[in-house]
Amino acid sequence: MTDSSNPAESKRESLISELAEDIVQDAATIAEPDEDRLEQVDEMTAEARRRLSFEVSVLLNEAVTKLSPGRAYEERKETPQRTFQRFGVNFRLQHALMFVSVIILIITGMPLKFPELAISKFIIIDLLGGLQNSTLIHRVGAVGLIIVGVWHLFYITFSRDGRRDFFLMMPRPKDIKNFFQTLLYFFGRRPSPPKFGRFSFIEKFDYWAVYWGMVIMIGSGLIMWFKEWFPKYLFDIGREAHSDEGLLATLAIVIWHFYNVHFNPDVFPMSWVWWHGKLTEDEMKHHHPLEYAEIMESQSARIVEEKLKVADTEEATE
Ligand code: HEM
Repeated sequence: MTDSSNPAESKRESLISELAEDIVQDAATIAEPDEDRLEQVDEMTAEARRRLSFEVSVLLNEAVTKLSPGRAYEERKETPQRTFQRFGVNFRLQHALMFVSVIILIITGMPLKFPELAISKFIIIDLLGGLQNSTLIHRVGAVGLIIVGVWHLFYITFSRDGRRDFFLMMPRPKDIKNFFQTLLYFFGRRPSPPKFGRFSFIEKFDYWAVYWGMVIMIGSGLIMWFKEWFPKYLFDIGREAHSDEGLLATLAIVIWHFYNVHFNPDVFPMSWVWWHGKLTEDEMKHHHPLEYAEIMESQSARIVEEKLKVADTEEATE
């Protein structure tokens, strides 16, 4: 069965027909058109078609395999490679506490925003045993998120890795350029996507959205939690901000973040970097080529320095 809607398939078909026709014409000029000979020509045509069909299929398969970067990338991913430590244990623990807290906060927060939904009643009443429990669990998640917020501030102030990453997370004019270059690439106006360093504009956006979101959610959450300390109008503003930003944060996580770290074909079903903190050499070249080049450059400079030192000591001992 052939699929005529497939352009590669119809191209293959027309190629076969053309070649078969050529052969038939050649054969006809040689052969006298009597009954027996015509039958022979028909047989030859069928045989030629069969052989050509096979050869063209093999050639097309080979071409697709060799020319498809995705396939080659997938194959290389299977082979053991050198790894690069992208995130240290401190950062990974922050991330783990944050996602556990945020999942708890979403599950216990969203049913309060949409109480009329059947799933909200199921979560609050059947799953958590009532409103009192669910608001208590929301506060447990909130404490987790506050701990992450304070921990992260200490991390970006007092740890070397934290200070470096915070500095590299700062938005720069290059990010705007990269954004438009990515759009051009998506619309087929650029042969390749822009090259990123340690953090792409997408990762920076992700980080700052969470940063901003945490300030709003913790600030407005505390106002609601300790409402007796604040005037009524601040409580109303806090509740509105909390409710809307909570929905925005949930959608950003489910749509934006999940696409980048789960559903993007490059990482599907999940990037494990949050767990072991490592990237393979191919992943580094593919996602962070400029950082990879920097690391390679500094490593080769170090090797040259070491070799020069050895040469110096050898010279001195001679
Ligand atoms: C990702 C983080 C969070 C999400 C998605 C979230 C979501 C929500 C939502 C949707 C509501 C219902 C608002 C409404 O009535 O329309 C709510 C209520 C509430 N949230 Fe959050 N929240 C988060 C973080 C926090 C934090 C950090 C705190 C405390 C510091 C907090 C404290 C509260 C309080 C006190 C309420 C009022 C209901 C209650 O007493 O439990 N939330 N939250």
